[in-house]
Amino acid sequence: MKKLLTLLVAGLMALSISACSNKKTDTTETTAPSTSGSETKTVNVGVSIYKFDDNFMTLYRAEIENYFKTLNTDSVKYNVTVQDGKGDQAEQTNQIDNFIAQQYDVLIINLVQPTSASTVIDKCKDANIPCIFINREPSNEDMAKYNGTDYEGKYTYVGADARQSGKFQGEIIADLPNKGDLNGDGVLNYVMIVGDPENVDAQYRTEFSVSQYKEKSGLEVKELVNQRGDWDQARGQEITQSALTQFGNEVEVIFSNNDSMALGAVQAISAAGRKVGEDIYIVGVDALEEVQQLVKSGGMTGTVLNDHIGQSHQAVDVAIKALNGEKLESHYWVDYVKVVAE
Ligand code: GAL
Repeated sequence: MKKLLTLLVAGLMALSISACSNKKTDTTETTAPSTSGSETKTVNVGVSIYKFDDNFMTLYRAEIENYFKTLNTDSVKYNVTVQDGKGDQAEQTNQIDNFIAQQYDVLIINLVQPTSASTVIDKCKDANIPCIFINREPSNEDMAKYNGTDYEGKYTYVGADARQSGKFQGEIIADLPNKGDLNGDGVLNYVMIVGDPENVDAQYRTEFSVSQYKEKSGLEVKELVNQRGDWDQARGQEITQSALTQFGNEVEVIFSNNDSMALGAVQAISAAGRKVGEDIYIVGVDALEEVQQLVKSGGMTGTVLNDHIGQSHQAVDVAIKALNGEKLESHYWVDYVKVVAE
């Protein structure tokens, strides 16, 4: 299935590159970008993903392409070029420069470093190309930098409010009959596996999982480990393995900023002879298919659905609005959903 998807994505990319037309889109009030006469209008969409090797963003980018395909008509064809930022901001900036030089009609950008938003917005403004940021939220200051100018409403952020996902994680643990406090001493001993401390999703999930847990459970907490795992399964495994070696049965709960790292943690938990739901709890975010199965069978305590379908469709809808000359909001939010066995 994965192979098939990779082939499909590669095929689509080849297609879209060969079909680039460099035409600019008219701006009108219609739902799809307008065309003149019976001619088919080609709309070039440039997408840059922070890195392809990320489970959640792999689902997300595939859905951007799928959804654009459903919007092709006799009069409008969307040529979608998706590029791999390879976790390297310089590389991604280069890709964006190329999209701009080739006069792409609209860009959808999953920044490598959210702090680069300001530079990217400047570039897009100079070329008057709409820009939709996804998944990695730029600062409010950057998002407001062209308020009151002609470029206001031509760039936006589409994402989910990571505070909500953190709160849901905290609630999943607080709602357990023993509130996750396995030894009953009134203090929750936890390990925090952090995605990337520069990323707002990681910051908010780390903060709000714990604050919401305390509020809902009324118990105290003790952080045993707080380590950066870069959203990566292998890192989640390493961090958990060393935490369990160091703290053994003291570890009651593992909060993981995402499911990939949680999957690594689950491997380390079973290698250490511990059993989720009996002598340890673990909660992630994303609701990857594999994790949904684990939650169902009790192999994970819970997760939070990070709705890649809702977010990708919203990003595409907003891109089309911008192409039609509609003024965009500064942010568009998609809800998270709590996922537990029941
Ligand atoms: C988060 C997601 C993570 C990872 C990250 C990349 O929203 O939960 O799994 O994909 O985005 O920025």
